[in-house]
Amino acid sequence: MALADDARLRPRPARGEEGPARPALNRLGACVQAYVAARYRPRGGGNLPPPRLHARALADLSAGFTHDRGGRKAGYLSDARARAAYVLYYTVTSAGGVVAALELAAASGIHPRPAEAGTALRVLDIGAGSLGASLGVAAHFEGRAIDVTALDGTAAVLADGAEIFGAFAPQVRVRTARVDLRDVHALRKAKLGQFDLVLCANVLNELPTGRVGETGVAERLLRTVIRDHLAPGGVVLALEPATRMASIGLIAMREGLLADDSARVLAPCTHAGCCPLAEQRRDWCAFEVPWLRPAVIAACDDAIDHARTALKASWLVLAAPSSVPEASDAAIKSAAPQDERVRVIGGPMHAGGVMRRYVCTADGRHVAAAPAGARGATPSWMLAPGRGTLGWIAANARRREGRGGEVEIDVSGGRR
Ligand SMILES: C[S@@+](CC[C@H](N)C(=O)[O-])C[C@H]1O[C@@H](n2cnc3c(N)ncnc32)[C@H](O)[C@@H]1O
Repeated sequence: MALADDARLRPRPARGEEGPARPALNRLGACVQAYVAARYRPRGGGNLPPPRLHARALADLSAGFTHDRGGRKAGYLSDARARAAYVLYYTVTSAGGVVAALELAAASGIHPRPAEAGTALRVLDIGAGSLGASLGVAAHFEGRAIDVTALDGTAAVLADGAEIFGAFAPQVRVRTARVDLRDVHALRKAKLGQFDLVLCANVLNELPTGRVGETGVAERLLRTVIRDHLAPGGVVLALEPATRMASIGLIAMREGLLADDSARVLAPCTHAGCCPLAEQRRDWCAFEVPWLRPAVIAACDDAIDHARTALKASWLVLAAPSSVPEASDAAIKSAAPQDERVRVIGGPMHAGGVMRRYVCTADGRHVAAAPAGARGATPSWMLAPGRGTLGWIAANARRREGRGGEVEIDVSGGRR
């Protein structure tokens, strides 16, 4: 069961009723479509536009990604057919996911920035594919000086990403390197320095998991990055698919890293305690942010009878254990020192004139409740679409036992 409402049961919003447009992502979509049309033209000609031309390969890829590692072979992007479809669609959706995550992070007081003022933001993109995640950083920080180092096992897809960067954000310096992330010494061999922002987007779930009781390759990689490659104040942004298995995997890595104080978790968690979802493997934690799909994504969706009307990902923002909370982080806290910060992890549920949402709090997953439709009584964070927003619960908020023994917190008098 996904937390609270089930996205599959919701009606698809009509085009134009989706979330807000992000002009930089629309421009990226246009760059990607033009690149794929020029680079992946079929030998036999054909005048179909890229979304129609690559629909079959895209449907195959999409099925593989949805079914958690299902059917994908290592190096699957070496195949030109799969790569063309990947670049066309997932470059933009990955960029969108990173933009959404950076927006949510900023609302939590997390602002990746160069360790030294006036220098470029140093970004390491691990398992970069067509550099969608780095392109998302460039879209979010439009015009900012950025240096990207991108690592992947498939050289051809890195080359695609570098070409797209040249068209989309020519001011960004891009360096690519082919590595096998399963190799314990991969990062050392790549002769990396330190970075202000490390991206691991949709790659950790593709790495081998350890045997029971062993640390898997993905967690080992995160440990190495946090220990050796974060500049002072640097952060790791890990995004995984918004599926149950990928989220469970990410939560397990969080628990492993916090257990021996190898990392500090900055988001989505608002506390350093155990994840309330770690023990039960039923629910999962992911953000879901509405977006107005760029034209290329809407056209691809139409071609494969899909509708990616929200940007979704399981996510973690991690820092070195010694890192000091940012001033802006402290400012958020001091704005309402008596309030507890919580993360909305479920969609809205309505019953009997009450709106409820699952929230993650320092002492577990609880239900926040407020009168539905009562003007002024429902905090705005309760009304935010999707999930992943930061919320606030007053220290004196009334708690009672709700349905199924869950703790229900009355947030109607709380911070807007
Ligand atoms: C789903 S794609 C994600 C790409 C990109 N980060 C994004 O979000 O669009 C996963 C990427 O991880 C790479 N990858 C998987 N296993 C790898 C390994 N052992 N070594 C290096 N790269 C690997 C794949 O080649 C692929 O480009």
